[in-house]
Amino acid sequence: MKKVSLNFELPAGMKNPYADVFELVPFDASRGSDEYVKHLTATKAEGAVFAMGARFDANLIARLPESLKILATASVGYDHIDVKAAEARGLIVANTPDVLNDATADMTMLLLLNTARRMREYLELMKEGWGKSLGFHGMLGFDPAGKYLGILGMGRIGQAVAARARAFGINIAYHNRHRLPPEKEGDAHYFKSFEEMLPHCKILSLNAPATADTKAILNKRTLALLPKGAIVVNVARGDLIDEADLIAALESGHLGGAGLDVFVNEPNFNRRLAEFPNVFLTPHAASATVETRTHIAARALENVARVLKGEGPRDRVRIS
Ligand code: DGY
Repeated sequence: MKKVSLNFELPAGMKNPYADVFELVPFDASRGSDEYVKHLTATKAEGAVFAMGARFDANLIARLPESLKILATASVGYDHIDVKAAEARGLIVANTPDVLNDATADMTMLLLLNTARRMREYLELMKEGWGKSLGFHGMLGFDPAGKYLGILGMGRIGQAVAARARAFGINIAYHNRHRLPPEKEGDAHYFKSFEEMLPHCKILSLNAPATADTKAILNKRTLALLPKGAIVVNVARGDLIDEADLIAALESGHLGGAGLDVFVNEPNFNRRLAEFPNVFLTPHAASATVETRTHIAARALENVARVLKGEGPRDRVRIS
């Protein structure tokens, strides 16, 4: 029987739906990359299914056993895999798009609303016992309705964010490499340049993948283009933001707040970010629902099953 390594537990109640094609062999991700290579070699694994914490750089890929045919990440993002190095070794890389669009867009709205409405400060006040009236003008947030939300990255997740934001009466602006066709764009305002969009955005949402082009795209220069008091939401990747510049913009008061699910260093994120009362933080949990994680796991296993049956994966990541 073919062996496929799995570095996380399947969701409760889920069994390997491809037990006729391969047997799953568990690996404890906390054991590190040397042990991972040993495990893949010893089990003669033909596929590896892993959660995002696993990092497949060129060095690790060079040490992978010949038996391995597919690297199947249980995530839509694949910036933790050197796809070029994998392709050079003849390895197929697959991800899990689509199944997490709704959960990720929900998290974008959660961060947006919590930041706009000062939820972190309210939570802290209530934990302390409240005790004293806030007064008519105390601790006011702002209404997102009628303001512009600028979306960087109008792919499937960006579009799911726009659909939700419209229901809240928020106006949509977006920047994307390609303009959407009219039926998808709707009433959204397209900006060919990220920089030109920023001055219009009371809210900025980052929904683009981490690439060489988007690395630190939000930095001292681009943050300064946002209107004073704007808020930033990031559910994409920490690398899209220069965190030192973000902290400086929060310190100066230019930025009104931030809702962040992702960080440059995870899980040991820059703790300075947690010190701002107007920064709402979550631990890279945008896809963390029972339903979505179940769909992600199923999709990753499907990609492996198809490859081991001699078909192409459903979601092949290609660089070449
Ligand atoms: C993804 O799928 O890339 C998400 O960031 C994981 O939570």
